[in-house]
Amino acid sequence: MKNITLNNDVEIPIIGSGTNTYGKEGNQYSGPLRGDTQEIDWAIENGYRHFDSAQVYNNEQVLGEGLKKSSLPREEFFITTKLNTYKGFGGADWAHAEIEKSLEKLQTDYVDLFLIHFPWDHHDEIVEAWSILEDYYNRGVFKSIGVSNFTKEHLDLILKNGKIKPAVNQIASYVGKWNEELIAYNKGNDIATVAWSPLRGIDENAKQVLEEIGNQYGKTYAQVVLRYQIERDVIVIPKSHNKDRQAQSLDIFDFELTVNDRERIATL
Ligand SMILES: NC(=O)c1ccc[n+]([C@@H]2O[C@H](COP(=O)([O-])OP(=O)(O)OC[C@H]3O[C@@H](n4cnc5c(N)ncnc54)[C@H](OP(=O)(O)O)[C@@H]3O)[C@@H](O)[C@H]2O)c1
Repeated sequence: MKNITLNNDVEIPIIGSGTNTYGKEGNQYSGPLRGDTQEIDWAIENGYRHFDSAQVYNNEQVLGEGLKKSSLPREEFFITTKLNTYKGFGGADWAHAEIEKSLEKLQTDYVDLFLIHFPWDHHDEIVEAWSILEDYYNRGVFKSIGVSNFTKEHLDLILKNGKIKPAVNQIASYVGKWNEELIAYNKGNDIATVAWSPLRGIDENAKQVLEEIGNQYGKTYAQVVLRYQIERDVIVIPKSHNKDRQAQSLDIFDFELTVNDRERIATL
């Protein structure tokens, strides 16, 4: 596994496992929990050590339970979770309570990377929420802090008003929506990019091009897309409900794309 060094010198594995449907009936985002940790168990067996969770997924406890069951030391894992700001900010007491619930569900006393999940309209509140994350960071409960789905303007707000720079911005980046400008803006500010839904958007045409490229190296279309992202230091968090496909998404360190391959992928 290759690591990326964040702007506070913390190392993050460049491939993590998404989790937003793990442990849920029918593999559905809004499905109730099944009560088992199958996908997390497989992911750990496959070698994943970095997991992307969030309060809004309503399944942090599945991750917590799976990691505990593995009996591996906590320090082996890199856990991300996110403050649920989908409906905005409920105030400082609310944020503290939600954070404590995350720690409890994840069965840990620290989080490797804690993000504000979505920006919202009230900029003063975003700055206030960021200061709460800074406080947990200063106390060592959060080893790194960052944001998700932030535009340039939202990032500027934090860069101007915060004391600590976000370590990452987790954003959409996939075939048909690479988000190049924002990735460059993140990079220019020494903020790492995490690409969410990295396997989304692959239509038949894109699949054909990616398979042509992959055939040169004995790799699948999905492996080519993930390789494209990590070659430019974009962290990826694919998820699969299939153990073999989980393994495939990790098996991308033994080939290299050519300039021509990369140019073709960039146009998809
Ligand atoms: N910050 C945010 O706002 C945000 C938003 C969306 C997602 N996320 C995070 O990003 C994670 C990943 O995104 P996602 O859940 O939308 O899915 P994704 O990783 O883009 O994968 C999409 C689909 O691709 C299939 N797949 C996975 N590995 C494959 C492989 N090696 N070959 C072929 N197909 C493969 C999976 O289906 P099968 O199960 O059938 O294999 C999966 O449902 C989420 O779980 C979540 O943690 C964050």
